[in-house]
Amino acid sequence: MARNQKDFYYHQAQKEGYRSRASYKLKQINDRMNIIKRGDTIVDLGAAPGGWLQVAKELSGGRILGVDLQFIKEIDGVTTIKGDITSDETIEKILEFAGKGGVDIVLCDAAPNLSGNWALDHARGIMLNDAAFECAKKILKPKGTFVVKVFQGDLFKDFFDRVSAEFVYVKSYSPQASRSTSAEIYVIAKRFLTAPVRKNHLCAVEITGMGESGDGIAYLDDFVIFVKDAVLGEIVKVKIEDVKPNFAFAKVLEKLDKLPENQYLTPKYVPKTDGSFANFESESSEQPKKQKILRVRDRSLDIDNYVPPADEKDVEFD
Ligand SMILES: C[S@@+](CC[C@H](N)C(=O)[O-])C[C@H]1O[C@@H](n2cnc3c(N)ncnc32)[C@H](O)[C@@H]1O
Repeated sequence: MARNQKDFYYHQAQKEGYRSRASYKLKQINDRMNIIKRGDTIVDLGAAPGGWLQVAKELSGGRILGVDLQFIKEIDGVTTIKGDITSDETIEKILEFAGKGGVDIVLCDAAPNLSGNWALDHARGIMLNDAAFECAKKILKPKGTFVVKVFQGDLFKDFFDRVSAEFVYVKSYSPQASRSTSAEIYVIAKRFLTAPVRKNHLCAVEITGMGESGDGIAYLDDFVIFVKDAVLGEIVKVKIEDVKPNFAFAKVLEKLDKLPENQYLTPKYVPKTDGSFANFESESSEQPKKQKILRVRDRSLDIDNYVPPADEKDVEFD
């Protein structure tokens, strides 16, 4: 690196004993988004030389795994794997670390070797992002967090939308420590969804209760669905409008005479039997989400007293 490029964060990392200036990006993402809690289990994909691993270890103190094509010099209390995150062999090892319990956070700061061909480099970057996303879906606990570096370009929006379909809150964020000339941005996705339905899914339900605000309450397996304009005893075909970790909101499309044998009129999200949560067959959502925090606070089941936040500042990342 040329001397004049050795900026503030480079020197700061040297002074404070971090292995890379990238450490400050994770610190800043965490300060803004409140990601890492004490005791969290964290997997860091594309982790060499280990700056993020040092920060993750400091903030969590829990089980940490770093994976990279490059050898990662030992960090006390951190497990490492030398391997390619796009290979099945490496994913098997990561699954082994995650075990049946899964992990709280998947981080990915991986970057491809740059060829200088912008379109090719962007596509390679998105391939790495997809590998990290697929891995995250396999190992994240319900309500887990995924943070991934993306190089902006024409494939970015599609990737962002795919991530948005699987988490309650998704936001893109550029920490100050990212160089101003860099096209990188971080996608921060919180509250991994493991509900049996997704936005725009169709299902048939029976209204077996009423909320104080007048919404009908139905169950799909053990999952609660609040149905607008439906009354006790009705059997209805509904469209899912919003999904939270523990419940969803839906609107009535049609009244039915009886429940069909399979209430899932679009394929159910199927948790894997090994304890991980992949294999969800999604429909593409009608309206792509904006690249900002969704304007919702996670609603408790007391939705009758729910007041939407006045502005984005009210949204809590807990
Ligand atoms: C910017 S560095 C990560 C810096 C790290 N966050 C830190 O704080 O030290 C990107 C890393 O991604 C790794 N990488 C790129 N492609 C990879 C792949 N397919 N599998 C695993 N690691 C990969 C590179 O080897 C490189 O070490």
